[in-house]
Amino acid sequence: MNAKALAAEPDYAALVRQQCSIVVSENALKWDALRPARGTFDFEAADALLAFAEADRIKVRGHTLVWHRQLPGWFAAEASAGNARTMLGEHIDRVAGRYGGRMHSWDVVNEAVHLADGRPDGLRDSPWLRLIGEDYIEFAFLSARAADPQALLAYNDFGLESESADAQAKRLAVLLLLRRLKARHVPVDAVGIQAHLAAAAGERYGAGLRRFLADLRELDLQVFLTEMDVNDRSLAADAPARDAAVAAAYMSFLDVALSDPNVRVLMTWGLTNRHTWLNGENARVDHLPERALPFDEKLSPTEAFFAVRNSLDRRRHS
Ligand code: G3I
Repeated sequence: MNAKALAAEPDYAALVRQQCSIVVSENALKWDALRPARGTFDFEAADALLAFAEADRIKVRGHTLVWHRQLPGWFAAEASAGNARTMLGEHIDRVAGRYGGRMHSWDVVNEAVHLADGRPDGLRDSPWLRLIGEDYIEFAFLSARAADPQALLAYNDFGLESESADAQAKRLAVLLLLRRLKARHVPVDAVGIQAHLAAAAGERYGAGLRRFLADLRELDLQVFLTEMDVNDRSLAADAPARDAAVAAAYMSFLDVALSDPNVRVLMTWGLTNRHTWLNGENARVDHLPERALPFDEKLSPTEAFFAVRNSLDRRRHS
């Protein structure tokens, strides 16, 4: 959810109330939003978002306690190998502790695997890894469990969905990370598969994803689809063709993903094309707005909406 739009656009707030049984803050719970200065926390936007959701008994996911992006400006100068562990522990204690008992789940660690960094363990060369060492992941999960024993604790990542060689390799690296964590009894309850997809020719979803979902089930991990959207960046301008391709991508991914009963949550990253991160970084070269989400700018349902609804109906009746 977009915290600013929630306050400024009553029609958007009404649509969220009507359509969502669970929401996530797109930016309001990230370090740069919460930590204007090292010793200061600003919970105003996050508190408002929780109050909005709780007023309608909408569940809330917390995103995210540990990420290599959207760290505050002061972080690079002030965080060091000597203080980073304490700083992270305090952050998790204050933030997850503040909302203790009120969160459905937390993305405790986000995007910690990045094969392009070339490490044998597949971990991303992030500030947290450099400052704390590879056990920052374990430390974060333990700290989150202590701060909020009721929330489900998730590892969240992207690039895990398709049948491409890159996705196959990343799924394997994520599985190995999760097996290491489970072997050490680290409290990980769930995996978030972000599902930022592309409506590009050749994108396929199938056996690799099915196997991954089965492997996660065997590890006793729930699966959440956490940030679904479909970019149409590589397609020509024609709007009806883009809408059809986006809807087809929703359908082909969801028909595989939702066939596993262990997939418990489906969320899109934004609800309406009126606000989507896809028009920011990596926007289309022709600057046409992306048509990535279940509702258009005027909040009418798109073809993608009906694709999602049909996939959910097929699951219900299977
Ligand atoms: O904080 C400034 C704000 O002060 C300023 O007024 C505004 C004007 O442009 O920019 C603000 O920062 C932007 C921020 O979003 C809040 O709007 C950043 O420039 C922009 O880079 C940032 O983008 C976010 C992106 O993560 C990058 O970190 C997107 O909104 C957000 O949707 C996106 O979300 C991520 C998930 O957290 C993790 N998975 C991938 C997903 C998409 O990248």
